[in-house]
Amino acid sequence: MLVFGTVGHFVEITRQFEVRRARARDLHAVSRLNAALQDYERSIRPQRCKGKDLPPEYVKSMFRAQRRGDGCIFVACIPLGRVVGFLGCLLEEDVLESTPRALRITDLFVDARYRSVGIAKALIEEAQRFGSERSARGIQVNTLAGNKLARLAYRALGFTEYAVTYERSISHPSHQ
Ligand SMILES: CC(C)(COP(=O)(O)OP(=O)(O)OC[C@H]1O[C@@H](n2cnc3c(N)ncnc32)[C@H](O)[C@@H]1OP(=O)(O)O)[C@@H](O)C(=O)NCCC(=O)NCCS
Repeated sequence: MLVFGTVGHFVEITRQFEVRRARARDLHAVSRLNAALQDYERSIRPQRCKGKDLPPEYVKSMFRAQRRGDGCIFVACIPLGRVVGFLGCLLEEDVLESTPRALRITDLFVDARYRSVGIAKALIEEAQRFGSERSARGIQVNTLAGNKLARLAYRALGFTEYAVTYERSISHPSHQ
């Protein structure tokens, strides 16, 4: 499963990438990118914990899901193998839907130096293929309302909004 992308009329070595399934040895790279994703989201929603404080278990559980077959991690690598983007996804069953199974993107991040060259698009296409082979009705992703970049990208890639999450804080007298 290889996807190659080049940009423009000139082949720029840093803009060539390959998308493949994560291997066990990618654990460190995926953890690094996942921490960067967390810090990016924290810049939008300060309540998020710091990337460095994420439990290692979070990324390990993605690898476990991949081994079980109910999830997958795709990575984007530039020449010489450096991982510059990743997508984690999980198959989920929602009994309220007439076709219960959907694929949910749980995490998606592309290193800022490699954005806007089609890496997220290629990762999502691989995830879509994974979901399609497992009879998922569609592919879903949640994003922060304030993540304008991601919302633009998802709309550009054919996603539409179908649910809204509301939140109200609870004040605790002992904390005042
Ligand atoms: C959102 C993100 C994953 C997009 O990755 P990317 O590799 O730059 O995206 P792509 O180059 O594949 O672009 C995908 C589509 O989104 C559009 N897009 C990407 N960045 C955009 C931007 N800044 N403004 C407008 N549209 C944008 C592209 O035009 C493209 O559409 P097209 O195929 O019609 O041209 C990347 O910006 C990122 O990692 N952001 C920080 C982490 C994050 O927000 N992750 C999502 C959490 S849910």
